[in-house]
Amino acid sequence: MTSPAPSDSLEGKVAVVTGASRGIGLAAAAALRDRGARVVLTSRSAERAEEAARSLGAGVTGFGAHATDEDAARACVDFTVGTYGRLDILVNNAGTNPAYGPVIDQDHARFAKTMDVNLWAPILWTSLAVRAWMGEHGGAVVNTASIGGLSVAQDVGIYHVSKAALIHLTRQLALELGPQVRVNAIAPGIVRTRLAQALWQENERRVADATPLGRIGEPGDVAGAVAFLAGDGARWITGETLVVDGGQLLAGGVLDNSSGQGS
Ligand SMILES: NC(=O)c1ccc[n+]([C@@H]2O[C@H](COP(=O)([O-])OP(=O)(O)OC[C@H]3O[C@@H](n4cnc5c(N)ncnc54)[C@H](OP(=O)(O)O)[C@@H]3O)[C@@H](O)[C@H]2O)c1
Repeated sequence: MTSPAPSDSLEGKVAVVTGASRGIGLAAAAALRDRGARVVLTSRSAERAEEAARSLGAGVTGFGAHATDEDAARACVDFTVGTYGRLDILVNNAGTNPAYGPVIDQDHARFAKTMDVNLWAPILWTSLAVRAWMGEHGGAVVNTASIGGLSVAQDVGIYHVSKAALIHLTRQLALELGPQVRVNAIAPGIVRTRLAQALWQENERRVADATPLGRIGEPGDVAGAVAFLAGDGARWITGETLVVDGGQLLAGGVLDNSSGQGS
């Protein structure tokens, strides 16, 4: 028996993208909107979220919610389902890296903040989305991991551990939430954003030379993969992590000897 070929369209779907006032999240929100989804995007600041939403135009709304604030997360999910009547797509994109330097030099506060934002928040938001809508009606979750979760490098060890755990969490949630909900991740390489600024700003030529596709990533290079995993084209894919890095992981060593805040 054949099933119809998948469509790129997200017409009629509703998405929440966390951490989307700029960078990869903003580009992902734009890609989802371009395919027809209505989008609620978040930031720690309601003003920045609303400004980003305005920059994308109709069908996009901004919502202030720190990713680890359970009340704010619940309010955002309730707002989305209350306003649009559904929540089909969740992109857990908010991330942080306050723990720069050797792992054994980190204190508990920096470790906990990294794990809270990068690992606990995706659990919290997925739980809320599944209970509010997806568990009954179906949905797709996309987590923003990193090639750092698939490799090791100096000075960004705690961040990389958090992203490795997020990749494992993606598989675990996929197992627990199927068949209603698909859960996948993207693993970007070094992308030109504020979070990764210290990795590329002084080293862009070196990063480009170490990248088989010859240049640093731009947020828009990653966004299409988010839309793909959220959509019908990925309808039989779950628990996977899609590397989107211009080949940086193949080449290895892009992060070696660089000072930075994590990719
Ligand atoms: N850039 C890279 O090279 C790279 C590579 C691999 C993976 N990643 C991952 O990609 C994701 C996005 O990062 P980016 O590179 O696009 O960085 P970015 O341009 O600095 O954007 C980070 C976004 O997250 C928001 N944010 C930060 N902390 C938050 C929190 N606690 N709660 C809610 N929102 C929060 C920021 O908004 P406000 O400041 O307005 O709150 C901003 O919109 C992260 O998960 C990061 O780990 C990045």
